[in-house]
Amino acid sequence: MNPIPVIEAVRDGEHLPDGSLEAFLEGYLAGDVEEYQMSAFLMAVVLKGLRRRDLSRLVHIMLHSGAVLELGHLGGPTVDKHSTGGVGDKVSLVLAPLAAECGVYVPMMSGRGLGHTGGTLDKLESIPGFRTDLELDQFQRILEELGAAMIGQTSEIAPLDRRLYALRSVSGTVPSIPLIAASIMSKKLAEGLQGLVLDVKVGAGAFLPDEERALELGRTMVEIGADHGVPTVALATAMDRPLGRTVGNALEVRESLDCLRGAGPPDLREVVVSLVTEMLLVGELASDSSEARSTVTEALDSGRPLERFRRMVELQGGDPRAMDDPGHLPTAPIQLEVRARGDGRLHALDPLILGRAAVELGGGRTRLGQKIDPAVGYAELTPPGSELAVGDLLGIVHAADRDAAEVAANALRRAARVDGDGVEPRAQVSHRIDERGVQELRSGP
Ligand code: URA
Repeated sequence: MNPIPVIEAVRDGEHLPDGSLEAFLEGYLAGDVEEYQMSAFLMAVVLKGLRRRDLSRLVHIMLHSGAVLELGHLGGPTVDKHSTGGVGDKVSLVLAPLAAECGVYVPMMSGRGLGHTGGTLDKLESIPGFRTDLELDQFQRILEELGAAMIGQTSEIAPLDRRLYALRSVSGTVPSIPLIAASIMSKKLAEGLQGLVLDVKVGAGAFLPDEERALELGRTMVEIGADHGVPTVALATAMDRPLGRTVGNALEVRESLDCLRGAGPPDLREVVVSLVTEMLLVGELASDSSEARSTVTEALDSGRPLERFRRMVELQGGDPRAMDDPGHLPTAPIQLEVRARGDGRLHALDPLILGRAAVELGGGRTRLGQKIDPAVGYAELTPPGSELAVGDLLGIVHAADRDAAEVAANALRRAARVDGDGVEPRAQVSHRIDERGVQELRSGP
């Protein structure tokens, strides 16, 4: 197979001849297309896009590059959620056990950190011993017993996304509607779901910061879900600031545990509750939104999802002591407090700057296969909207050494905009997209 004409056709915005995309992608999996050729192809898609028909073919090939699960025997609806990627986005860790507590089966297949954003797999693996590379039968046993299990793309399910995802992360080829849509929808459809809820991030820390493009991504994925007979709903949520008050793998696990205890930051809680509410509706476990929301809130406040998460950690090989004692999670040797140098209102906290700085600290990857440091990142970030006086805490950098901590501290000072031109924060949950179209919501910041 000669891969060059396929790359050139996408580069020139031309139609891809029948069978050529299939041969190109199969060639990549077989080792006949090199990583640099795939990187060129991905960059061409980022710059030129893909026609709708070619996107459907891409989803089909990625979905069928591995097994498609058959989960009809479970005693309840199988519904999952996926995010388009954000900074401080630890939603899945709270959502999976919470949705399971409410009667949904959540066969969650997640990804690692992607570009400047964190990934659920890296967060889970910061719990000592936690395995995200389970065999399929083990995954299904845990799912059956607990109602939730969390793994990564494997050589058995969505292997093509596993390879492309890792390559996109380190080649500047994430921000593309067809690539994000194909990546997310191929692995979610491989889970054999009855429903899907998507969290489409909007704002500076998202891969598609602009609202219009983010909503187009949401619509594209809802349409792909419908084409495959999987009812799909998307919520647009704020990523003009980090979600919650931590950025970094083990630090985000701690914050998720707080949320599972019924505490945690209100923005994280609001996004989790809104998404699980949609999961109950799409799974037909509630007749209307207010019934679903009160079931979800009651479950979250009961502490039962934390017990479910503890059992999941245990069954997936992790150390359950980390659930109660953060001393069992990785801890960075240096913790540097960063304080405000002036008085005023914190108008914005740029998530892109913080996400990139967390990668620089070693919490993410800049090369294929790079090992990450689970302990590093930011904690106790001050939420935008807060009034600050000189010397107030902006956040705490967790780093492997003092030099790295200083660099990350400077990044936090740059990210924090005190006063200035008063940018309005986005609503926490701003839009809902389903097959009927886009609806604007009014959930406050
Ligand atoms: N999440 C994914 O799984 N893939 C993307 O491309 C972006 C977010």
